Amino acid sequence: MTGTGNEQARKTAEGLAYSSGFGNEHSSEAVPGALPVGRNSPQRAPLGLYAEQLSGSAFTEPRRHNRRSWLYRIRPSAAHPPFLRANRGEIRSAPFTECLPDPNRLRWNPLPEPADPTDFVDGLWTLGGNGDATQRAGMAVHLYHANASMDRRVFSDADGELLIVPERGGLLLRTEFGLLRAEPGHVALIPRGVRFRVELLDATARGYVCENYGRPFELPDLGPIGANGLANARDFLAPTAAYEDVDGPVEVLNKFGGHLWTATYDHSPLDVVAWHGNHVPYVYDLRRFNIIGSISYDHPDPSIFTVLTSPSDTPGLAGVDFVVFAPRWLVGEDTFRPPYFHRNVMTEYMGLIEGAYDAKAEGFVPGGGSLHNMMSAHGPDRETFERASAAELAPQKIDNGLAFMFETRWPLTLTAQARDAGHLQRGYDDVWQGLQRHFRP
Ligand SMILES: [Fe+2]
Repeated sequence: MTGTGNEQARKTAEGLAYSSGFGNEHSSEAVPGALPVGRNSPQRAPLGLYAEQLSGSAFTEPRRHNRRSWLYRIRPSAAHPPFLRANRGEIRSAPFTECLPDPNRLRWNPLPEPADPTDFVDGLWTLGGNGDATQRAGMAVHLYHANASMDRRVFSDADGELLIVPERGGLLLRTEFGLLRAEPGHVALIPRGVRFRVELLDATARGYVCENYGRPFELPDLGPIGANGLANARDFLAPTAAYEDVDGPVEVLNKFGGHLWTATYDHSPLDVVAWHGNHVPYVYDLRRFNIIGSISYDHPDPSIFTVLTSPSDTPGLAGVDFVVFAPRWLVGEDTFRPPYFHRNVMTEYMGLIEGAYDAKAEGFVPGGGSLHNMMSAHGPDRETFERASAAELAPQKIDNGLAFMFETRWPLTLTAQARDAGHLQRGYDDVWQGLQRHFRP
């Protein structure tokens, strides 16, 4: 891929217009008068457009969980040829049956660079997951590495929504709803079934994807925190309408039931001229996360760092949470300040966007990841424990890293390629070796 396409994408991404707010009703029209007023499906939609509803929830789900959008497009989505099975490359899907669930603590280096021209979809590599895509329960952890923009192809995922976490290289996401720019430090959320194309803003791109088969991500309740804090709804940015009026072959890749299906349309399906609704993509800058912590002693459980949560039928028990560890002050008195030793009924996949993480001295690098499955014992490594136990407890700014966690209620089962990967670190257990006994009764 030459730089030309990427430069064009970056130029396009400059000055994108957004609509602010999470979960609320957004609306946008790329051509004045394209959006019907007062009704969703008038006898004739304006400007000769087709009206189409895209539902992200059952019609009758409670209002706070109800997701749908109305799209006004040049051609209806129904006008397409049959889908055929496509090579799914290194994408795998739930149920994950290639390996036994593994209680061991595991850690990976970043994905190696792709050898050949590789776009976002071809560069998806599944680490593992849980649940069952066809039951709309569970999640998958993917990584991606790409060195080319998607060209005359779009992707959509019927199995779940995609939370994209760029670690290296910016992305321009051309969606049915318009354009989003996601740079490292941002996350982008593509709802179930929404078609999009990924163009690179830099020579290469690398990052993480949480595929959430379950209920769509929402902002967590705030309880006694009050009306503000954590991720504020106004900082989520939805695109404004931008359409492609393009004839000629465009490949539409559809992840459905764990497999990839392909159809070649005679036009671009990114042809939505106007839309309104709340089943929309977003981008969010993690640096805007309002971090709340202790100003006396101890530190709260990391649930206080939840950006987005996918609730289950059990109150407080998420199918998957997205949690961020961003720069913050530590001021606790008589407190072991790094994350404490713990065993947890939830499963933690952790990644690093930049810098370092305060519980690990080394080995956990940007683009890498660690897996601490359900009930596996973990916490600070020996060096971090010794240092934090002896540290002078002046106010301290943790300001050299941006880490995150996909935390899920079920054990995470690896794919064979993750278990056998050359970039799986051998001997991760060693970081907890040498923790001395200090007991003196
Ligand atoms: Fe943990």
